[in-house]
Amino acid sequence: NDQKKKQTIEGLELLTKFYHYLLTTAKYGAPGMRYLEEREFNQEMIERFRIGYAVDRWDTVTHLLQKRNMNLQYMADAGIIAQRGFDNKYFDRFRNRIIFPIFNMRGQPVAFGGRTLGDAKPKYLNSPESDVFHKGSILYGFHLARPEIRKRSQAVLLEGYVDVVRAHQAGVTCSVASMGTSLTEAQAAALKRIADTIIICYDSDTAGIEASFRAAEMLQGDGKVIKIAKMPEGLDPDDYIRKFGGERFKSDVIGASQTLMTFKMNYLRRKRNLSDEGDRLLYIEDVLRELTAQRRAVERDHYLRLLSEEFSISMDSLRKQLQQMTVKVQ
Ligand code: CTP
Ligand code: MN
Ligand code: MN
Ligand code: MN
Ligand code: MN
Repeated sequence: NDQKKKQTIEGLELLTKFYHYLLTTAKYGAPGMRYLEEREFNQEMIERFRIGYAVDRWDTVTHLLQKRNMNLQYMADAGIIAQRGFDNKYFDRFRNRIIFPIFNMRGQPVAFGGRTLGDAKPKYLNSPESDVFHKGSILYGFHLARPEIRKRSQAVLLEGYVDVVRAHQAGVTCSVASMGTSLTEAQAAALKRIADTIIICYDSDTAGIEASFRAAEMLQGDGKVIKIAKMPEGLDPDDYIRKFGGERFKSDVIGASQTLMTFKMNYLRRKRNLSDEGDRLLYIEDVLRELTAQRRAVERDHYLRLLSEEFSISMDSLRKQLQQMTVKVQ
C-alpha cells in the first residue's frame, strides 16, 4: 500500500510535468494557452501553480504511461485513465481541459482539477478520492500559501482554483481554496493551526454567502478572528479582481471584511426600518436572538455594548433580555 501510494504520486508527478509541457508547447498547448491568456493569467502563475493542458485526444496520456511502464491500474484508481466497457482498453479521462494540479502539504501532486475550455459538463472534472487524495483534508494552494499564512498569521479562504491563482497573481499570497463551498473540519483545523485571522471570501451568490456563515462557525475558536468579506452580488474573487484590480480587492474586500456577527447584524439591519420605533425593537430582538448562540462572553458583551450605545438601552436590560431568550431557546 505504501508502495502503491509512492508509485501513484510518481505517476502524478510525471503527468503534472507532461500536462504543463503540453500547455507550454505551442504545437499542443495553443488552445489552453489562448484560454489562459484570455482570462489574463500570467506566465509566473502558470509556472508557480504548475498549470497544464490535456489535449483533445483519448490516448495521449495512456500512451505515455504505457511507454514509461507505469502501473495503469494505479493510474485508473487515481482517476487519470479509465477502462472502456467493451474491450477493457484504457483511455484518458482529461481531454481538452486546463489542468490544475492539486498538491498535498509537501508539494506533491495528488489530484487534478480539469476545467473545460468551453461549456462541456462538468465544468470541472476532478480526480476522485484515492489512496493519495482525500479531498476533505486538502486546501488548494496551501503548500504555496503556507509561508505567508504563517508569517502574517492570516489566511484568506476562497472557493475555487482560479480564485486562488488570481489572488496570488494580485499579491494576496495567503489565499487558499476549499474547492467548493463546503469547508470540512479537517480543512478548518489545518487553517486554524497556523492562522489566527481567517478571512472568508466565498462567491457572492446565495450558496456562497450561506456557506461562509457555516465556514465561519467552524473556524471560530479561542484567539481566532474570523471575518467575512463581501463583494458585489454575483461576483467571485476572480471576477472582482479582473473588474476592479488587486488593490481594490485588498482595500475594499479583504480590508473591509467584517466579523460574522457584524456581517449578520448588517444583514438584519437591512430588513428593518430603523427610524421606526417598532422596527428598532424588532431589530434589537433579532440581534439578541443571534447572540443566544454566542458562547463567548467577551464577544457577547462586545455586541451588547454596540446595541446599548446605538439605542441608549442599559447593558443591564440587554443582558436580562438575552438571558430570558437564551432560556427559551434551550
Ligand atoms: N467545483 C468542482 N466541480 C464543479 C464545480 C465546482 O469541483 N463541477 C469546485 C472547483 O474547485 C471550483 C469551485 O468549486 O473552482 C468553485 O466553483 P465555481 O464558482 O462554479 O467555479 P469557479 O472557480 O468560479 O471557476 P470559473 O471561474 O472557471 O467558472
Ligand atoms: Mn514551465
Ligand atoms: Mn460558486
Ligand atoms: Mn466562482
Ligand atoms: Mn469564477
